[in-house]
Amino acid sequence: MEVTEQKQKQVDYEFPKDFWWGSSSSATQMEGAAAMDGKGQNIWDYWYEQEPNRFHNGIGPAETSGFYYRYKEDIRLMKQIGHNSFRFSISWSRLIPNGTGAVNKKAVAFYQNVIDELLHHDIEPFVNLFHFDMPMSLQEKGGWESREVVDAYSEYASICFELFGDKVKKWFTHNEPIVPVEGGYLYDFHYPNVIDFRRAVQVGYHTQLSSALAIQKYREQQQNGQIGIILNLTPSYPRSNNPADLEASRIADAFFNRSFLDPSVKGEFPKDLLDILREEGYMPSYTETDVAIIRTNTVDLLGVNYYQPRRVKAKENAVHPDAPFMPDRFFDSYEMPGRKMNVHRGWEIYEKGIYDILINLRDNYGNIPCFISENGMGVEGEEKFRDDSGIIQDDYRIKFIQDHLRWTHQALEEGVNVRGYHLWTFMDNWSWMNAYKNRYGFVSVNLEKGGERTVKKSGEWIKKVVQQNGF
Ligand code: BG6
Repeated sequence: MEVTEQKQKQVDYEFPKDFWWGSSSSATQMEGAAAMDGKGQNIWDYWYEQEPNRFHNGIGPAETSGFYYRYKEDIRLMKQIGHNSFRFSISWSRLIPNGTGAVNKKAVAFYQNVIDELLHHDIEPFVNLFHFDMPMSLQEKGGWESREVVDAYSEYASICFELFGDKVKKWFTHNEPIVPVEGGYLYDFHYPNVIDFRRAVQVGYHTQLSSALAIQKYREQQQNGQIGIILNLTPSYPRSNNPADLEASRIADAFFNRSFLDPSVKGEFPKDLLDILREEGYMPSYTETDVAIIRTNTVDLLGVNYYQPRRVKAKENAVHPDAPFMPDRFFDSYEMPGRKMNVHRGWEIYEKGIYDILINLRDNYGNIPCFISENGMGVEGEEKFRDDSGIIQDDYRIKFIQDHLRWTHQALEEGVNVRGYHLWTFMDNWSWMNAYKNRYGFVSVNLEKGGERTVKKSGEWIKKVVQQNGF
């Protein structure tokens, strides 16, 4: 009786036994050693060489956080703050420097060591195959526009399963596959900085095909694990219930969410998206054989990344008839008055979004097993929150996580098949064009002090949450 009362007082939100607690990361953002031990160039190394000015404070991907050298220390810290799982990605250009062909033995040893070290500390490795980092030699062949590169990826995936699949039982084909489409082919924030809707559609379709091919390869190898994809399922909230706003949000959702969600889970592209592409003359080139591969190779598990909502409204102004075709032809973004902001990053905070995504998966996607694979709060200038004892007092991050976990818990209570929560990210890392501007980690990386690691207040807090399996 007493014990129960005490437990009730300690934990208002209890999570299921075996809930996955941990964090997520990616190779280019934390490994560093970008030109070491035989690693080939990827598009980030190349783009930085060409245009260093496009990166915050001119900091490039060469020496990001140093996980390549310090992985033992870092994994010890993961253990210290209670992780039972951790997601990282394999750098394709480290493992296979030219994208196809010879495998780099030093890279094999590195990833093997990381996996062994994680398992040694009872931390389950979740391994992602592609986090925005196309090998440069394959970008020169057209990147995701090229069907040949899709085959190269499926070969790479197969090699990863052979090398590491005996120990790794959770695989992911891509992280946020819509982002390289948007960044690289529509809105100019990833290399190759193309702005061309037709090419964007081909890239998106080929990325989806590559995911299905990797899943097919994985199943052929019968390794008894699970394979999934990680999607940023930012809900598209309409300004109002006016039919024009509702239509705007439906189309935004088709372009940015269902474009990958539907084929990944159901094996088919959304009909309303295909209707637009057909009507406007933007269908990608495809074969029936490939479409059948997409249809039959759907995911076992879905990772959900969620940071902020997308708010949209009907177009304010008609689009000029000569304007190049862009998804935004059907909607405008909407800034909701009174919205709650993460002022340190300039993003809206809307905790209930996480619940809405999960309920949608329950109701419209067969309640597929899923987990929160990224959620987090970026803070610019976070050093100002470091106190005299040297600890970053990130109470705002604790609150952010708590509020999102409450809604995750609510979804669980309502029967959603959500299996875990991973914060973006374990330790502060380099982030694409924003470099080290926004800090997200449970652990700070002090660039002034040679990358010194210090657990933040949120890191101490999550440790307790994991110990109690709730808060
Ligand atoms: C996520 C990406 O969407 O956003 C990460 O998967 C990225 O790779 C994160 O680092 C945060 O981005 P930013 O621009 O705030 O540093």
